[in-house]
Amino acid sequence: MQFDREKTIAITGSASGIGLSLRQSLELKGATVIGIDLKDAEVIADLSNQEGRSQAIAETLDQANGVLDGVVTSAGVGPPCDPAKMISINWLGTVQLLTGLREGLLSSKSNAKVVAVSSNSTTITPNVPEVLIDACLEFHEEKIQAILGDYSGMAAMAIAYAASKTAVARFVRRTAPTTEWAGSGIRLNAIAPGAILTPLLQGGLDDEEFGDAIRTLPVPVGDFGSPEIIAGWIEMMLSDAADFMCGSVVVVDGGSDALIRPDDWPQSFTI
Ligand code: NAI
Repeated sequence: MQFDREKTIAITGSASGIGLSLRQSLELKGATVIGIDLKDAEVIADLSNQEGRSQAIAETLDQANGVLDGVVTSAGVGPPCDPAKMISINWLGTVQLLTGLREGLLSSKSNAKVVAVSSNSTTITPNVPEVLIDACLEFHEEKIQAILGDYSGMAAMAIAYAASKTAVARFVRRTAPTTEWAGSGIRLNAIAPGAILTPLLQGGLDDEEFGDAIRTLPVPVGDFGSPEIIAGWIEMMLSDAADFMCGSVVVVDGGSDALIRPDDWPQSFTI
């Protein structure tokens, strides 16, 4: 795999799990990493609120001297967690950071690369209300609250997580091919991991309700994935290998999605 040693890459969620594994690997190859996280990072910021997101954008651009070759949005939370907070961190913490950091990406000497971390929960979670995904994409906080108010407990958390990650994937697909992104030399793609053994997944496994649901999720290759495996894929998506990649959502999930919905590919469209 090709990877330019001179690159500056910003990574949200760099202090743990997938983000940490990626940071370590990129640094070994000589890249400069600007980590953004609640702790143990170059930029300490809370992406759950507007103020923290604005601060993260300003400090990251400052530390990068205005030039970013890549951005990876790995900061995220999963069940068990307050549903609205999950949407705030996973969705707004991704879309606002990407929008705000775009000016740094425009200054890269080569095609800048962006990898948003979505999830295979986008395709394997049943009954996610389309209106909730739409409300996220419309940034309609009142609507989000109203829809979530119709659910409780595990169901509310499961749909909120899936909706937040689906909004991320749709944002990537809607935005990547536009003149402001692909047309301006930025390659925007998403990765959709399956169950990866990190502190986030462990939090779910330790939960009485979610633990069983996660343990019974079929993973055809036999076991959970590791953060290093996902970091390897993201690295590929940050490299020159991704120069012809635009708006892709790459599923790396040990086969769960293929097992659960084998014939949902391809999906044709009507004109
Ligand atoms: P992790 O819990 O190991 O790491 C997440 C990082 O995000 C932590 O360092 C945490 O401090 C940071 N973070 C959380 N809330 C934040 C906030 N408000 N502001 C700033 N930083 C914050 O989790 P993991 O598993 O590495 O997750 C990385 C991404 O991968 C997440 O977006 C997650 O949703 C996604 N993902 C994870 C899967 C898994 O099974 N582990 C499966 C599919 C997607």
